[in-house]
Amino acid sequence: MTKPLEGIKIIDFTHVQAGPACTQLLAWFGADVIKVERPGSGDVTRNQLRDIPDADALYFTMLNSNKKSLTLDTKKPEGKEILEKLVRESDVLVENFGPGALDRMGFSWERLNELNPKMIVASVKGFSDGHHYDDLKVYENVAQCAGGAASTTGFWDGPPTISAAALGDSNTGMHLAIGILTALLGRDKTGKGQKVAVSMQDSVLNLCRVKLRDQQRLERVGYLEEYPQYPHGEFSDVVPRGGNAGGGGQPGWVLKCKGWETDPNAYIYFTIQGHAWEPICKALGKPEWIDDPAYKTAEARQPHIFEIFGTIEAWLADKTKFEAVDILRKFDIPCAPVLTMKELANDPSLRASGTIVEVPHKKRGSYLTVGSPIKFSDMKPEVTASPLLGEHTDEVLASLGYSRQDIFNLREIKAV
Ligand code: COA
Repeated sequence: MTKPLEGIKIIDFTHVQAGPACTQLLAWFGADVIKVERPGSGDVTRNQLRDIPDADALYFTMLNSNKKSLTLDTKKPEGKEILEKLVRESDVLVENFGPGALDRMGFSWERLNELNPKMIVASVKGFSDGHHYDDLKVYENVAQCAGGAASTTGFWDGPPTISAAALGDSNTGMHLAIGILTALLGRDKTGKGQKVAVSMQDSVLNLCRVKLRDQQRLERVGYLEEYPQYPHGEFSDVVPRGGNAGGGGQPGWVLKCKGWETDPNAYIYFTIQGHAWEPICKALGKPEWIDDPAYKTAEARQPHIFEIFGTIEAWLADKTKFEAVDILRKFDIPCAPVLTMKELANDPSLRASGTIVEVPHKKRGSYLTVGSPIKFSDMKPEVTASPLLGEHTDEVLASLGYSRQDIFNLREIKAV
């Protein structure tokens, strides 16, 4: 089956997570992604938190599937020459080095554009160009703090909290992928490449859009009625942390189910969708609440929403999270069990859809990874193993016209 991005050649100058997540996605969809890595060491994540000695760490394998690996010291003149050749025949270069690293290497946007005016140069940085923090190196949690996620996540009586979801890394990579695909479409019209830049701070903030909404509502009316602080607690002049409250107009909370005393994940998320009030009352065996003025409207319920959640928890006390959801789904109530990574890894539906995939690997045996979350009617993205360090060096150099002797010489001087 022909994949839509087949024929698109990408120089993958990325490391850690934000950049690799982007190029991995493009590789799944058919792009020829050549990961350029420093000879001898490669992407730092090959060695981070190894669970099998001498085999690439899962951090690396789960973010670099479907790619080729070319080792190249781009600080050596011979390495620069090879990179220049690659640039001349590639469509996209993706990088997420620290600020200024590509310029210091001699490959500024101007230089790359001169070498190949059709090439798209895509970058991830912590902060956008010209931002007063644009000299900072940034990792995931730094971005979550800088993008507004941390100040609005967690409980009001605890510190700012980091999400386990990679809002700074993989999320930024997904934004970059959208930017690259847009620039490729643009190139079809203009024949010109362009620079695509995404900052981690901006990408986190983009996902915290509703919190910026809340800041403006708070400034206008002084309270936020869907937050647990309303109506009994205090609001300051900044959006507070709302615990597990629903982010939109639907109150919700994480509620205990049977076994919560010993199982830290025996919970469901329960949403009180406004128009689902009647089925909720029926499901809970509380028909008298349906027309009770103290419960009938969302506004009437809000002052005693935690008393309502308490009643629901009493109903849940003899039901596991799975049993509870099986009952509630019949009443069309938006809810889900709180699932552990173990449960997700073994979920037959996720295996069947290709969202959790098992990938054979030359050194590891096989490993589980998250496959494409995007499903197509005409294409099933297939996940193949991440490359060993330098696995495709000879192949890529030969395609650029280097002989076996040239490659031997380049190895001798550690340029590849
Ligand atoms: N050959 C020779 N040198 C290479 C090379 C290669 N193939 N690949 C990288 N290098 C060099 C770079 O030129 C740079 O050298 P310089 O600093 O002397 O100019 C150095 O290796 C890499 O620097 P840097 O990217 O700053 O690495 P770091 O480990 O110090 O910082 C980050 C890591 C992630 C903090 C930093 O890259 C960063 O802030 N990136 C942007 C934001 C980002 O993507 N962060 C999230 C990652 S999940």
